[in-house]
Amino acid sequence: MGTATLRDSYGRIADDLRISITDRCNFRCIYCMPAEGLKWLKRDDLLRFEEITRLARIFVQKYGVRTIRITGGEPLVRIKVEELVGMINELDPTLDITMTTNGVLLRDKAQALKDAGLKRINISLDTLNMQRFHEMARSDQFDRTMDGIDAAREAGLWPIKLNMVVMKGHNDDEVVDFARLARDKGYEVRFIEYMPLDGDGTWTNEQVVPSRRIQEQIEDLFPLVPVNDARPGPATRFKFADGAQGGLGFISSVSQAFCTTCNRVRLTAEGGLRTCLFSLQETPLRELLRSGASDEHIGQVIETAVWRKEEGHLINKPGFIKPAKSMSQIGG
Ligand code: 5AD
Ligand code: SF4
Repeated sequence: MGTATLRDSYGRIADDLRISITDRCNFRCIYCMPAEGLKWLKRDDLLRFEEITRLARIFVQKYGVRTIRITGGEPLVRIKVEELVGMINELDPTLDITMTTNGVLLRDKAQALKDAGLKRINISLDTLNMQRFHEMARSDQFDRTMDGIDAAREAGLWPIKLNMVVMKGHNDDEVVDFARLARDKGYEVRFIEYMPLDGDGTWTNEQVVPSRRIQEQIEDLFPLVPVNDARPGPATRFKFADGAQGGLGFISSVSQAFCTTCNRVRLTAEGGLRTCLFSLQETPLRELLRSGASDEHIGQVIETAVWRKEEGHLINKPGFIKPAKSMSQIGG
């Protein structure tokens, strides 16, 4: 137990598992889902909490996974998600359990999640303007989302990271406002480059704002100092040079891929193991779980899949093929 690691053929070790627990969402963000929604998975096709926990146990106890992120769709639309957090937390209370949510249901859920063992939270927020929120999230729940962020803070889910997907012509004029928000409230803001994982399939490189450009705009007002992480993550992190609270990070998935240090694997809501956001195939685990396969057998299937993890994505290179699934069907 705990001795093996999940290593791929390029020498990277997967110790960060992202689990999507539903493909449904109460928003329709333009960079993720079509306005009319998608064809949802059937209830029976979703992994049950027991099945998710069994897989999580294998990843944690057999392979030393240390971070588990619960994602969707929108994870809080799955009923009693706090029970799942509790079940995973019981596997090992020192696990770093975190969640990516759009925040709209957090006023109801934040305390229960905290009590169940959630350690941190990432909340998606792309604009500070209600009208724009309506356009980008295609939802009228701006106030509730902002209140959800406060609820997370009050519940002690800290630090709070805010994920902003920056799209040219939509919200790129707000990046300085988000930097100011980080300083005012002590949040960690993550500026994310728009990736070709939108449900509409209309992504073009012209809509991507390179992190470099965002950073320049911010530094005109707020000089930054780099944070040197012991282990490099996908975000290039900065603090404010004047010592203000909060911080910023840039996730340059398109302009500067971080695939060479990628330590992630993903489990879709229907139990597919994906070694990359841009994988063109996935390894189905659900039928193994439901046909009485042993942990050893499932472990071998996982090891083989991770070994074959792709070297990296090919966005903007010849040969790039957009995956058939959108972000909501993969899990950020
Ligand atoms: N490009 C970049 N980020 C995306 N997200 C969803 N779709 C995209 C996309 N096409 C982000 C969401 C959320 C996280 C799960 O992924 O904003 O914060
Ligand atoms: Fe990892 Fe794939 Fe993302 Fe690259 S594109 S960082 S390999 S998940």
